[in-house]
Amino acid sequence: MPVTSESAINKTMQKDFLPLEGTDYVEFYVGNAKQAAHYYMSAFGFQALAYAGPETGVKDRASYAVRQHKLTFVLTTPLRTDNPIADHIYKHGDGVKALSLRVPDATSAWNETTERGAKSYMEPIRLKDADGELVMSGIHTYGDTVHLFIERKNYNGAFMPGYRPWNNPHFKPSDTGLLYVDHCVGNVGWNRMNPWVKFYEDVMGFKNILSFDDEDISTEYSALMSKVMSSGNGFVKFPINEPAEGKKKSQVEEYLEFYNGEGCQHVAMATNDIVKTVKELQSRGVEFLKVPTSYYDDLLDRVGHIDEDLEPLRELGILVDRDNEGYLLQLFSKPVEDRPTLFFEIIQRKGAKSFGKGNFKALFEAIEREQEARGNL
Ligand code: FE2
Repeated sequence: MPVTSESAINKTMQKDFLPLEGTDYVEFYVGNAKQAAHYYMSAFGFQALAYAGPETGVKDRASYAVRQHKLTFVLTTPLRTDNPIADHIYKHGDGVKALSLRVPDATSAWNETTERGAKSYMEPIRLKDADGELVMSGIHTYGDTVHLFIERKNYNGAFMPGYRPWNNPHFKPSDTGLLYVDHCVGNVGWNRMNPWVKFYEDVMGFKNILSFDDEDISTEYSALMSKVMSSGNGFVKFPINEPAEGKKKSQVEEYLEFYNGEGCQHVAMATNDIVKTVKELQSRGVEFLKVPTSYYDDLLDRVGHIDEDLEPLRELGILVDRDNEGYLLQLFSKPVEDRPTLFFEIIQRKGAKSFGKGNFKALFEAIEREQEARGNL
C-alpha cells in the first residue's frame, strides 16, 4: 500500500491557502444584547464569558460573549442611533452579522482571500491587552454578513482584548449538551446561489460536496435549491439556499423579504445526545418544528438500522437521515425572533459527514406549514 510521502503532505498543506481551524464565534446584532444573552443562557444553556461596553472603553456598543463547550456566541447591540449596528438592525431585525473563523494567521487569511477577489471588511488589526495579542481581519460574504478571521494563538484572555471576564455567581444555568457549530446556512437571492458557490470555491478554497435541486426539495407549491460548501478539512460547512419557482412563494423568498436581503438562515449546533439535548431545550422554552407522525412509519425502511429507540425520536419529532458514510439525527427550531428569519438546528452525527435529501425535504415541508400559518405562502 503506497505511503503518502512527506513532500506530498507538504504539497497538500501548501495548497490550502486558507487553513481553517473551525468556527471561532458567531456574532449576532440584536436590539437588546443584555436580554438576548440571558435567552441564550437560560434557554440554550450557554455560560457567561466576557463583556465589552462603555465600562471597558468601548463607546458605541455593548457585547456579551457566552459559551458552551466549543460554541461561542456574541450578542452585540448599539448604544446610539447613528451607528452601523443600528442600521443593520433597522434593516434586518436581529440576525447574524459575523461568522468568525479560527485561523493560524489572520493576516495571511486576509491577503489570500482579498487577492482572490474578496471585498475587505476589516484590514488585519492587532489587539493587545495584558493577556496577549489577538489578530483579526475580515471579508464580506452574502448580504451584510461577514467572515472574520481570528488568530488567537498568542492570546490567553477570556475572549478578546476590549472585553473583560463576565459572570454572575447567582445565575449559572446547566448546559444542554451543545458542543460546536456544525454548519451555518445562508439564504441568497434569485440566481445568486452559483455566484456564491464560486465565491467560496475561488476566494476561500471550499469544495461543493452536495447539491439539491428544485426536484429534490419541492412541494406542490414551492421549491428551493441548495449547495453545500465545505472547507478542505470539513471543519467549516456553509450550505447556500436559493429560492426556486413554484406555484407559491418559496420559504427562501419569505426569509429574503423579512430579513430585507440575503443572510444567515440557520446555525446548526452539534450534540452527542440529541434526545437529551432536545428534551432539555424544550423544557426551557425552545420551540421546534413538527413533522407529521407518518414520517416515522417507514423511517427504518428508509435509513436502515439506527442505535436509538424510535419512540423518543417520534415523541420529540427528531428527523433521521443517511448519507453514504453513516446517519444523522436533526431537529430544527422555530425562528428565534418574531420575523420568520433566523432559526437553529440541533444535529447529532453518527458517521454521516454530509446531509440527506429526506430531512431537507421534511424541513422544507415543516417550514412551509408555518409559512402558511403566517399567511406568507
Ligand atoms: Fe442545516
